[in-house]
Amino acid sequence: MMDSFEFNKIAGAVLGALLFLMGLGIFSNAVFHAPKPKIAGYDLPAAEAAVAAAPGAAAAPATPVAELLAKADPAKGAATAKAACGVCHNFEQGAGVKQGPTLYGIVNRPIASTPGFAYSSSLVEKAKTDKQWTFEALNAFIVNPKGYANNTKMAYAGEKADGRRGDILAYLRSLDASPAPLPAK
Ligand code: HEC
Repeated sequence: MMDSFEFNKIAGAVLGALLFLMGLGIFSNAVFHAPKPKIAGYDLPAAEAAVAAAPGAAAAPATPVAELLAKADPAKGAATAKAACGVCHNFEQGAGVKQGPTLYGIVNRPIASTPGFAYSSSLVEKAKTDKQWTFEALNAFIVNPKGYANNTKMAYAGEKADGRRGDILAYLRSLDASPAPLPAK
């Protein structure tokens, strides 16, 4: 039979155990307190790269044109340009216009300067500010024609690959009796 004395002993033991557990909880909270992060989740290493590559983040091609030209192969560029531009452009001196003006001597030629050619208004505007087809201007136009001159008549999506674009630029440079000096870095 359980008398009241025994009951008190058991109740006391249970109470003691509960108090001990509570104390342990408070103590461990004090010792192992982890501050809550301001923003939930982990920082992923890819996040920054994704922001950098976001469309419209950079209007100009990322790789400097001097670097593209240093690695370029004009012979490969000739093949690429004949396939990509040849439908609409001649490359030989004195050759007439096709859909677009001839590209012979294009490097450093004044923008929109072929007599009698009906250029788009935005290329005519570009001629006022950028003046000439420098390597930089050509690079920007060929990577994204509409990005350079928004209502251009040149129905060409652009060459996004640095290697192929560099090759095309090196080929265009060769279309001249005295090719323009390579740009300094
Ligand atoms: C579908 C036809 C077409 C293709 C393909 C094309 N072009 Fe053109 N290009 C044009 C037309 C049309 C113009 C005139 C653009 C304007 O007036 O806005 C032009 C203009 C240009 C000009 C400016 C000429 C000047 O006198 O100011 C350059 C430089 C040029 N193209 C380079 C290229 C290169 C390099 C390629 C190939 C990578 C290429 N184009 C592909 C049709 C084309």
